[in-house]
Amino acid sequence: MKILSIETSCDDTCVSILEVKELKNSTSFKILSSVIQSQTDIHTKYGGVYPSMAKREHMKNIGPMYELAMKEAKNPKIDAVAVTVGPGLEPALWVGIVFAEELALKLKVPIISVNHMEGHIFSIFPNKTKLFKVKNDEKNFPTLSLLVSGGHTELVLAKSWMKYKIIGATRDDAAGEAFDKVARMLGLPYPGGPEISRLAEKERETSAESSPYKGEGQMPIVLPRPMIHSKDYDFSFSGLKTAVLYMIRDLEKDGSKITYEIKAKIAKEFEDAAVEALVHKTIKAIKEHKIKTLIVGGGVSANKHLQNSLSEKIKELKTKIKVHFPTRGLSTDNAIMIAIAGYFQYKKKKVTKNSKKLKAVGNLSL
Ligand code: KG4
Ligand code: ZN
Repeated sequence: MKILSIETSCDDTCVSILEVKELKNSTSFKILSSVIQSQTDIHTKYGGVYPSMAKREHMKNIGPMYELAMKEAKNPKIDAVAVTVGPGLEPALWVGIVFAEELALKLKVPIISVNHMEGHIFSIFPNKTKLFKVKNDEKNFPTLSLLVSGGHTELVLAKSWMKYKIIGATRDDAAGEAFDKVARMLGLPYPGGPEISRLAEKERETSAESSPYKGEGQMPIVLPRPMIHSKDYDFSFSGLKTAVLYMIRDLEKDGSKITYEIKAKIAKEFEDAAVEALVHKTIKAIKEHKIKTLIVGGGVSANKHLQNSLSEKIKELKTKIKVHFPTRGLSTDNAIMIAIAGYFQYKKKKVTKNSKKLKAVGNLSL
């Protein structure tokens, strides 16, 4: 069958078409097309995403993106439409939902509602080619998913296929949100994650012995590792963000100019602190829940330092744990992951036959 999927939960208008076949012990997927119209340039001007502006842009882009996806896939016959219903920005989600419902009605095909976070979990399956398989055995369970994006930071336990339990989450800002806000304090453009990461990498390369001091006898650039010793699996990034704000203020009061070098040191220290917190709680959960597979998804999963630190710490555990990150381009929002999650929901018969039934839920939980 062929599934057309739509994703408009934040600032990317995404449409994809996947061909799905059931094989003996697996499901095979072929990507027929996948298109994304990013709104980053518009939101960069304002330093973040404004829901009403995102909605307006989605409304402008959804039609052309649909046309393009259909054209690239050579106008196939669509058998089902999958759409993200949450979590995300409600005005933005509604654009995708309304479009998907009208399309499903016109094509007389079922519509499947998809949880965006489940999409991020399934984003690890596509490889670098257009063809990939998902095995339907359960031997790799329990799995743990570290979902880190601009809106979410969650640790999700699954003891079996598609049955989730959130065992930890951020108590305030999401990890990606903290990257974005700290970037803004340092005068770097939105989205800040990749910018901070680039600066931090440069700093790691140049200062081999990684001294935390910016100069002789001057203020150390050291940030807290929030909640690292708490007994739960929760996170907190708002205090870390404020610590950066105070650090910049104190440095300026000290008479220091926030030069490129100092920005790089702050970026590295911030990235170290955020990644340490994420890795610490993930490893704790892996040990305590006897996890066999770790999945990392969401925009921040593209962070090289996070990838390296997690892989290193898992190696130290000396037990066999499979680790999966999305291939390049699939850590951030896309419609391919929505089609995959949508297909498995469809298989479970979570389908809405009657149109005009779906609802955007901004804080939808897994
Ligand atoms: O999953 P995503 O595309 O959208 C949401 O669902 O939120 O995640 C976007 C977030 C942004 O906050 C962005 O700064 C962050 O992912 N991000 C990164 C990196 N690439 C994207 N954060 C840290 N390091 C990166 N390399
Ligand atoms: Zn996302």
